[in-house]
Amino acid sequence: MVVGKPFLTVEQIHQRVAELAHVISADYDGKDLLAVGILKGAFIFFSDLVRLIKTPLMIDFIIASSYLKSDSQGEVKMHYDIREDVTDKDVLLIEDIVDTGVTLNNLRERLLMQGPKSLKICTFLDKKGRREVDVPLDYVGFDIPNEFVVGYGLDYDNRFRNLPYISVFKKST
Ligand code: IMP
Ligand code: MG
Repeated sequence: MVVGKPFLTVEQIHQRVAELAHVISADYDGKDLLAVGILKGAFIFFSDLVRLIKTPLMIDFIIASSYLKSDSQGEVKMHYDIREDVTDKDVLLIEDIVDTGVTLNNLRERLLMQGPKSLKICTFLDKKGRREVDVPLDYVGFDIPNEFVVGYGLDYDNRFRNLPYISVFKKST
């Protein structure tokens, strides 16, 4: 297994996360913000981002995994769902990466059924070229090409999450 040099450096990541936090703080000024992190992948992005958001907020998490079936209609299994009541809350879903869009679209629809006051989505990475399901993204850290990346919370087989930067992952042959 080979992990190359940084594709996004620690400095680039920190600068972009600060920019996102700045915009989100302004957009949610005076609102009742509930930040919901999607685990495991978003754990580092989530904790960096919420510490830079100035708006008082509450946090919760979702643990989910998706399985792509052959007809490309994905199924999402929930391992842990949010416990906060979302009614009258301005919910911000925070994800590590959007690839086909299946996972996020499913989680978004589940949350909408619970009747939040508003629902927006923030993703650290957007792999647009792989999209199969259209899902509205309100805040995007970086658009990336169709490469498998690890680090900053993202994994290959639950490894490399602790790399402080994003790197392209190649399986050695
Ligand atoms: P989607 O449902 O296809 O959008 O898949 C999103 C999920 O797949 C993410 O939350 C990640 O867990 C995983 N994923 C997609 N692309 C990558 C990648 O390049 N590196 C690591 N995980 C990825
Ligand atoms: Mg994930």
